Amino acid sequence: MCKIAICPGSFDPITNGHLNIIERGLKIFDKLIVAVAVNVTKKPIFEPQERLEMLKEIFKDSKHVEVDSFKGLLVEYAKKRGVKAILRGMRNMSDYEYESQLVLANKTLDPDVEFIYMMTEGKYAHLSSSIIKEVITFGGSGCGMIHPIVEKRLKDKLRAEIKT
Ligand code: COA
Repeated sequence: MCKIAICPGSFDPITNGHLNIIERGLKIFDKLIVAVAVNVTKKPIFEPQERLEMLKEIFKDSKHVEVDSFKGLLVEYAKKRGVKAILRGMRNMSDYEYESQLVLANKTLDPDVEFIYMMTEGKYAHLSSSIIKEVITFGGSGCGMIHPIVEKRLKDKLRAEIKT
């Protein structure tokens, strides 16, 4: 049987922490669907389509990764795709609090969906999309934090914004 999981996130933008979870997730799952979702509590800088484009470019040679996006509830998307496993990363206790709420709400909506968590590797535990956006905005390097494709896109977007 082919083991598939959905790896959902805002990915605004995707960080090396996310990429590390996906890479390690592929040791457990045969295929991962990396799905750009809308988190209504966040104000993203990239449109969903732009985030999807970056992911497609990053994973263009990965046979075992499919990139997709969805609107609406994660459980509905999982049902539509016929997938019952959701893979997420966890960095610290504040992630734990947020993720436990996410799991409980999703399990209430669909008890058949299972969430699998991987601890973020120590070298990525301090990373967040917000921190990276700040580093790039003020001229710092994203080396070791984000994929070069993401760094280029971020520089184009954020440094253009700062000039206006
Ligand atoms: N390493 C480093 N950083 C990580 C990380 C890791 N392994 N995993 C997450 N992060 C960071 C991200 O950089 C991001 O930083 P930010 O807060 O500065 O933006 C943050 O942790 C979490 O972002 P991300 O993992 O991209 O996604 P999210 O938590 O915004 O995603 C969804 C939440 C999309 C899964 C959730 O909102 C969802 O399912 N939405 C669909 C609607 C729905 O069904 N809602 C639930 C109803 S119960």
